[in-house]
Amino acid sequence: MTQPLSPETGRAAMRALIKEKSPLGPLKVMAQHVGRFFQIPIPGFRPYVVFGPEFVRKVLVTEREKVTWRNTDPVTDYLDRGVLIVDGEEHDRYRKLMEPPLHPARLAGYTQMMISQADRVTSQWQNGETVDMLVESRKIALLIIMQTLFSKDVWDDLPRIWNPILKAIEYISPGGWIIWRNMPRFGFRKPLKVLDDYLFEIIEERRKKKDEWKVESGTSDLLQHLIDAGLTDKVIRDQMLTMMIAGHDTSTALLAWVFALLGQHPETQTQLLHEVDTQEKSALLDHVIKESLRLYPPIHIGNRRIAEEMDFDGNKVPKNERLFYSIYLTHRDPSIWENAEDFCPERFAHGRKTPPMSYIPFGGGPRACIGAAFGQAEARVVMTRLLQTHTFEFTGHKVHAHMGATLEPRPGVMMKVMRRAGIS
Ligand code: HEM
Repeated sequence: MTQPLSPETGRAAMRALIKEKSPLGPLKVMAQHVGRFFQIPIPGFRPYVVFGPEFVRKVLVTEREKVTWRNTDPVTDYLDRGVLIVDGEEHDRYRKLMEPPLHPARLAGYTQMMISQADRVTSQWQNGETVDMLVESRKIALLIIMQTLFSKDVWDDLPRIWNPILKAIEYISPGGWIIWRNMPRFGFRKPLKVLDDYLFEIIEERRKKKDEWKVESGTSDLLQHLIDAGLTDKVIRDQMLTMMIAGHDTSTALLAWVFALLGQHPETQTQLLHEVDTQEKSALLDHVIKESLRLYPPIHIGNRRIAEEMDFDGNKVPKNERLFYSIYLTHRDPSIWENAEDFCPERFAHGRKTPPMSYIPFGGGPRACIGAAFGQAEARVVMTRLLQTHTFEFTGHKVHAHMGATLEPRPGVMMKVMRRAGIS
């Protein structure tokens, strides 16, 4: 057990909650006042939180057999046997099946498709209008992930699946159910069913024209790997849903944060425009993406259940407790990062200067993100294309980090978009 909080820490946490409009504020206060190990003191919800390279390495690598993924919450109910939340051999089997289409060697083959999907979305913009880059990024990311993993063009289906996808994300986001486990949740049954029906249709369609599809495409997509492995429709649905959400909600948040940061730092945007126009591969773009992932990691926390008592420098966490490793706090630890709260892409310009496991936007160890290389390549390709074709002017409101299924810039990233001269 941990010590009760001092009244001063409690008050500082409340002030931070109000100021930052997000639990990230109080988490930072706890980190400052208590250290790299603490317990969240909410009645009915008292998870342990650890951060920093040493503790993160324990959870992800050296003592990983002492933790499991499966907690009892809407994420695990909804994704059921999805690769993200199962453990042991079952996990390893699904993961192996899904790795080939995301292998770095396959990424170059997706570039042209990624560009086309970005162009499709921007072709709908009126010159000079203001768009929400949180919404536009989601469209692009969704089109890309569905095409890559399931060879499914969802453009015409967006009106049918858009709202159900947002409801699915809302369903698995933190909320009152954290404290009141069985709280009634209205308005989800129908949209979640629409999404399930949609995925089952894709599976059925593919099963029907399996051989024909294989001949046409030459290579196997993720869906085909799952079908060829002999999995049931239900288990395939679990993997598809997991990959669809994990594979696009994260990229959406990343792209949206990059735009929010560029909006707040127009001098970086100007420099970036110059680089994407004159260089084949902009180094600054890489650094901006990395810095965005440091400041606003889309997955800001990793969720585990303790299977065997763990010890963090003399602090014990008993079996069955919930444990979070905080990516966000690790990325903002002032003892590791100079000017930790500042946007400073140049910090990545000369290779890594911080210790291993201090920069973990994709987690680490055997359960590190399966889509890490894909997600980074996608962000590079999409950002390059958008900056080559448009200029983006922030319309000036403040955004805050909203803790949903991912960390999102809310209320959105409103930007005036202008088509660049000479772009057909
Ligand atoms: C910017 C983009 C992305 C970020 C920041 C991100 C972040 C992460 C993080 C931090 C984890 C580890 C979570 C933990 O330890 O609990 C993770 C796992 C995972 N991610 Fe990503 N991700 C991104 C893109 C993707 C993409 C594109 C896909 C799929 C195509 C994907 C699929 C997954 C899956 C399936 C896991 C679970 C892996 C396992 O448990 O074996 N992610 N991701």
